[in-house]
Amino acid sequence: MGMKLVEWHSLRSFIQQVFTKAGIPEGDALILADAFVFADMRGVRSHGIERMPNYLERVEKGLINKTGEIRILSESPSTLLVDACNSLGSVACVKSIRLASQKVKETGCVTLSICHSNHFGAAAYYTNMIAEMGMVGFTCTGATADVAPWGSYERYLGTNPFSISVPTLDGIMNLDMATSVQAKGKLRVLKARGEKVPEGWCLDKDGNPTTDPDAAIAGTMLPMGGPKGYGMAAFIDILGGVLSGSLFGKYAPHFVTDMEHISNVGHFFYILDISHIMPLDQFKRRLDIFSSDIKSLPKREGFDEIYLPGEIEARKMTQAKAEGISIDDIAQARLKEMANKYDVISPV
Ligand SMILES: NC(=O)c1ccc[n+]([C@@H]2O[C@H](COP(=O)([O-])OP(=O)(O)OC[C@H]3O[C@@H](n4cnc5c(N)ncnc54)[C@H](O)[C@@H]3O)[C@@H](O)[C@H]2O)c1
Repeated sequence: MGMKLVEWHSLRSFIQQVFTKAGIPEGDALILADAFVFADMRGVRSHGIERMPNYLERVEKGLINKTGEIRILSESPSTLLVDACNSLGSVACVKSIRLASQKVKETGCVTLSICHSNHFGAAAYYTNMIAEMGMVGFTCTGATADVAPWGSYERYLGTNPFSISVPTLDGIMNLDMATSVQAKGKLRVLKARGEKVPEGWCLDKDGNPTTDPDAAIAGTMLPMGGPKGYGMAAFIDILGGVLSGSLFGKYAPHFVTDMEHISNVGHFFYILDISHIMPLDQFKRRLDIFSSDIKSLPKREGFDEIYLPGEIEARKMTQAKAEGISIDDIAQARLKEMANKYDVISPV
């Protein structure tokens, strides 16, 4: 079959229709579809359409609340604790950010804690949405246990990502990263493609280094940067899980492998309205000097270009918006299967 290019609107509409047929309200299905397409357009394949079967299975099994309701549990002028009510992670986050952004205008900053939620996909989706409003967005999320704390080979922490985005003169600068060597979803992508896991990513269940995707999936991911990534993942679990009142560490049932229990993970957001500290335009101009300086630094041998954080993904997104999202044959087959099952026209 080979690769096919699909227009991003068609893919988003397909995802929306499939989830609507699965019982998610149309508006909420659009939020989810937009978050998936965002990831695919940025080349973050592990968090786009690749996730659809897993999400659909959880929705069908009643492990996710289809109604998309959220509830404010407590609030002050600059804090918000939201119960996601077991809704889709993306739906709960987007609705909560909308609530929080009302408060930010008054107070300058808001800390948003979300409990009783589900996997929220690519973290940059939310922080970029915040940066588009002229604000600094930070988020981190507890994820279900896939990573051993430094020194152990037993999974306890999630791949716990964080993302930070700021508005720039011509777009957004963003860092979005898992605190494991790589996102766990990448193991499933490698397995599906019959490829080996790069050395240094994983240990098997007995604690031996492995490059076999099955052994790696059954074993544990390693934290990025050894003890430093472990420390970051630990604090992300503290902010996302412990602080929000959600499950943390090994207690959150695994989103992909545990198809009997709800996930109950938590997210943490910090939103800062830049104009409360410095005029937005001044911030962007100062940031432009910073970025231009970095881009024009001398390059090491083997490097054609120095990229800013998030620049590679932003370029991929611009290209995908113009030319379409490339879909490999495995993903095409999956889309066709879902199209048949939910009686929706396949985009490929
Ligand atoms: N929801 C969850 O539970 C969960 C868990 C883990 C990961 N994720 C998501 O998985 C995605 C992938 O995470 P990842 O850690 O594999 O990302 P990655 O390793 O591909 O990239 C991490 C960051 O490094 C930057 N980067 C990469 N190469 C660069 C270069 N040459 N120069 C400058 N910057 C560069 C990227 O722009 C990005 O911001 C993220 O969107 C993350 O939010 C989600």
